[in-house]
Amino acid sequence: MSIGSISIFTYKKHKKFELFIQDYVQRSIVISLQELFLEAMNEQNFGIKEIISHAKEYGFVYPSSEIYDGLQAVYDYGPYGVELKKNLKELWWQAMVKLNRNVVGLDASIFMHPLTWKASGHVDSFSDPMIDNKDSNKRYRADILLEDKAATLAEEGKQADADNLLKDMARLLDAEDMEGVRQLIIDAGIICPISKTSNWTDVRQFNLMFSTQIGSVADDASDIYLRPETAQGIFVNFLNVQKTARMKVPFGIAQIGKAFRNEIVARQFIFRMREFEQMEMQFFIRPGEEMQWYEHWKQIRLKWHKALGIPEESLKFHDHDKLAHYANAAVDIEYKFPFGFKEVEGIHSRTDFDLMSHQKLSRKKLQYFDPTINKNYVPYVIETSAGADRLFFMLLCNGYKQVTVGEGDDEKQRTFLKFHPALSPVKAAILPLVKKDGLPEIGQKIYDDLKFDFNLIYEDAQSIGKRYTRQDLIGTPFCIAVDHQTKEDETVTIRHRDTMEQERVKITDLKEVIEKEVSIKNIFREL
Ligand code: GAP
Repeated sequence: MSIGSISIFTYKKHKKFELFIQDYVQRSIVISLQELFLEAMNEQNFGIKEIISHAKEYGFVYPSSEIYDGLQAVYDYGPYGVELKKNLKELWWQAMVKLNRNVVGLDASIFMHPLTWKASGHVDSFSDPMIDNKDSNKRYRADILLEDKAATLAEEGKQADADNLLKDMARLLDAEDMEGVRQLIIDAGIICPISKTSNWTDVRQFNLMFSTQIGSVADDASDIYLRPETAQGIFVNFLNVQKTARMKVPFGIAQIGKAFRNEIVARQFIFRMREFEQMEMQFFIRPGEEMQWYEHWKQIRLKWHKALGIPEESLKFHDHDKLAHYANAAVDIEYKFPFGFKEVEGIHSRTDFDLMSHQKLSRKKLQYFDPTINKNYVPYVIETSAGADRLFFMLLCNGYKQVTVGEGDDEKQRTFLKFHPALSPVKAAILPLVKKDGLPEIGQKIYDDLKFDFNLIYEDAQSIGKRYTRQDLIGTPFCIAVDHQTKEDETVTIRHRDTMEQERVKITDLKEVIEKEVSIKNIFREL
């Protein structure tokens, strides 16, 4: 067994073995925040650096175990991040399970029987082609290097060259011709952005699944995997759900949960993580009807993204050039990140591949008796698969606004997060103008009256201007100022985040005014 070129056996004898391991671990798998920013900048991401920095500064996303310099491609969600992500997941859940009579939910375990991953094809073919640059020791995904090169060629107006490059790549990957892929990288003149050389290693396939052992006695322990997708938990429970919830085809099973992939290229902040969350739905249909349901779910899911407040021009479909082993049609919904259009959700026509494979390997029938046609069959499946973290990132990028306000000497930059109010982490901030004259008591009473309905913040320190700014930076749609007039007529000032307009509202009307804007139903109306 070796780490790099040094044998562990040699080092075990070395009294500084532990220090060596620590050093190795630090050099190879940790990444400082500064490095993270630099990586983001390398992607020519104007604006992305500010967004990542904002996410950390204002309690949305932190690097995991940051006091140890972080862990590459693993992140923690802070107080406002966790609320935003929770709202996003809740919205997805309700849109899938509540709005569709024929979709039900499931919460399957992360650990599954190891044969699950044999049947699904992940053991044999869930891998990415990786290549290292010998001068910088940086590792890349060979296909991503080629795709990036094709994007650059297209930007330079060389569309035909870009298309040919992608075609050649697809052909070589299909044929598993890794030497050919390496040669294509060299012929295309691709160099490492760090060393600026084309001193490349061979291209090797790298399985992305994390494995661990289950069982307490080392000898008896067996290898199992952390699930790389939530979908398989749905497939293996297909009949349990169909029978116990008395579902009739066509019907769907929806699930939100963690997935794990040992990604080779772990850059772009929370875009590509090693631990992330998926929101997946498998829709079971009669064989032969897949194209009509595929089109149906494509449109439904695109509409959902628009309903979140993402402008139409920032979203597009991208048909897969190379289909996964399980699919006969597949499309990505892409969002225009500051670093280009990238996938946020996949819609896949998975045929009967998964159920058939599980049926074969488990030797358990996974068939459905369709009473309308009096026939048994293994259903086909349309899958919608969105990444909660990627959608979160999309909301951050879309919501991050910098505008100039004021004139002359008063001119300044205003930064705020424009989330749909139904998604905002905090719905309203209660802000007594001064910390005396009975105003805090009134503010506290408003807080207590509304806290069962909305996620609120109460703040009575600092100037009101500073407190408004702070709420803008976390995307709070309403600031409620309690002032001396409140004592006279029981009204407060509501300041609206997006327009900064202020209006006077009766305390007794507050709940209705806020509810009208932050209700999840506002999003449902768009669906
Ligand atoms: N069950 C099908 C499936 O997993 P996928 O295209 O590999 O398909 C679906 O993943 C979605 O999961 C992607 O569109 C993306 O939003 C999210 N996703 C995949 N890998 C991810 C990663 N490493 N980090 C964050 N999100 C990821």
